[in-house]
Amino acid sequence: MGSSDQAEDARALELESLVKQLRYHELAYRAGAPEITDAAFDDLFDRYRELADALGVSADARLDAKPGADHTEGFAQVEHRVPMLSLEKVTPNRRDSHGEAVSLGEQLETWYERRRKDLSIDEGAPLPLLVEPKIDGISVSLLYVSGQLERAVTRGDGRRGDDITRQVRQAHAVPEELRGVSGALEVRGELYWPHHAFEAHNAKLKAAGEKPLVNPRNGCSGMMKRKHPAGLEDVGIRSFLYQIPWSEGLTLPDTQHAVIAWLADAGAPVYLDALHLASDAEDALKHCEGFDARREALGYDIDGMVIKLDELRWYDRLEGTGHHPHWAIAYKFPPERKATKLLSIAVQVGKSGKLTPVAELEPVFVAGTTVSRASLHNFVELERKDVRVGDTVFVEKAGEIIPQVVGIDTTRPRGLEPFPRPTECPTCSAPVLSEEIFIYCPNPACPDQIRERLEHFASRGAMDIDGLGESLVGLLVAERELTSPEQLFRLRLEDLAGLERMGERSAKNLLDALERAKTRGLERVLIGLAVHHLGTTMAEELGRHFQNAQRLLEFAARYVAGDEAAIAEVAPAKGSGVIEGMAKKTADSIFEELNSEAMRRVLRELAEAGVSLVSTQTDALEPWKASRARVSCSRAHCPT
Ligand code: IVH
Repeated sequence: MGSSDQAEDARALELESLVKQLRYHELAYRAGAPEITDAAFDDLFDRYRELADALGVSADARLDAKPGADHTEGFAQVEHRVPMLSLEKVTPNRRDSHGEAVSLGEQLETWYERRRKDLSIDEGAPLPLLVEPKIDGISVSLLYVSGQLERAVTRGDGRRGDDITRQVRQAHAVPEELRGVSGALEVRGELYWPHHAFEAHNAKLKAAGEKPLVNPRNGCSGMMKRKHPAGLEDVGIRSFLYQIPWSEGLTLPDTQHAVIAWLADAGAPVYLDALHLASDAEDALKHCEGFDARREALGYDIDGMVIKLDELRWYDRLEGTGHHPHWAIAYKFPPERKATKLLSIAVQVGKSGKLTPVAELEPVFVAGTTVSRASLHNFVELERKDVRVGDTVFVEKAGEIIPQVVGIDTTRPRGLEPFPRPTECPTCSAPVLSEEIFIYCPNPACPDQIRERLEHFASRGAMDIDGLGESLVGLLVAERELTSPEQLFRLRLEDLAGLERMGERSAKNLLDALERAKTRGLERVLIGLAVHHLGTTMAEELGRHFQNAQRLLEFAARYVAGDEAAIAEVAPAKGSGVIEGMAKKTADSIFEELNSEAMRRVLRELAEAGVSLVSTQTDALEPWKASRARVSCSRAHCPT
């Protein structure tokens, strides 16, 4: 085999591994339990795109073939008159096919020159660009007729979105009226949560003893997807409007900067102060770079800049892809990155036995906090980056919570050894299993797994057992030898009262909380049992469909036995609006685990302990109709 064949093979393998990682993290994200930051997800996606381009992956086989779906059940769906696409972007970590870094300036220049060529604009002839902030919110499409707001719709899958008119109205997030505007028009923009209002909301939550929201963007999205909008008027969600993709019966300006000024005249919220009309790519880049310093003072989150051709007459001339138009490109700010020393690598055991490498670092201050531990994701990633103990590594937080090791200083001292993949569990020494890119401890009695599982079972998104947090679970496992969730419900006052820092009163409270948890219903039990690949949405769908554990288990047995009717129920013919792509594999794994002896035993014992295994949803809708498990770059906040 020639060396170029070998290189090609290595790239194909890397691509395969990236697809698995992206699918995995996509599902984790959708299940409400992301394991990596958005920035780390973007980096993986960028590398995927690069390799998919280089290897000529066909357009419809690519993960980024379509923008993602954000449909929420209970919301009416509306077809967009003009599809709402994503943006192509220039990004700090890009490499060319030879692995050479490509600067932001070079990427932008290439994009700009290509547009000149597409439009046959001679060198020297002007092609102005408008640079706008890229608001980190949720996109919205607004319909105004005779100046009055008629409808507000989310991006959804780009073709159809959810009708959020009531929510947007109640929140006073967009103008009810566009002054002096006749005819009909669609205006697009971004809903966002200004920092001061977001922080005030979080302060209220904290004062009420509730968990604060993680960030304004997700918070805003959650607010706009509230089924009952009452109360939204006080939360302070706002918008910026920036585009008019369709209109009838009115004359609009012919440049993007004039459209924004026109919107401002009509009383729409716009970011006039933050605009820059650039003469060329270099000028646009300079403005983007300078804008990073202004971010702090804006009072709202932006995740980059958008660079658009200013003259609207070109937009229809440029073809674009099904994913993004060619008249604009996004610029991503480089996240704050610090160098520090990797002191050691710890291997953590998760609730499902997954072994995760975690970097133990010399403490370093990054984006507002001191970081001494950072995620290394998984062993495939660790090997891909060739991270070794003793290396100087680069750490980023990229505005999110979990710090990441994003790379290493390759001028490392001699003698550093690659970190070996574990062959046994660091806690219980069981020989490990490998599944796709992950390594698992297969021993359900592994003490780390037991602790993690019980903690998860008791957590807010699962059985929500008040007062049963990390330290108490640790004590119950160590001192009362708890191994399985049903044992929680058999605890008596005397079992609890003797534990460290546990008085009679707290013990009673915990027993009350356990009593309350018994009625959470089948969905929460399924979530709590941490079945592989079974996220919140899917647990809810199973609950709604089967109504109780008995019917679910009967079905699982039929499915695993190869009953064709059962298999068809999960994955009907492709294209029928059912979970596609991953569905069969996911379903195989979920039903096999549900059908296992261990799972049947736990469910039986939970029922015997008085835990309800009946669904809390009585309106048995057809569960498999919601096609939302499509695996593509469908993060609600995918920045592309
Ligand atoms: S123009 C084809 N301008 O970014 C989409 N988008 O990553 C053209 N966004 O879905 C949109 N600020 O929700 C545009 N000043 C801005 C923006 C902006 C934020 C969002 C928008 C879009 C996403 C694409």
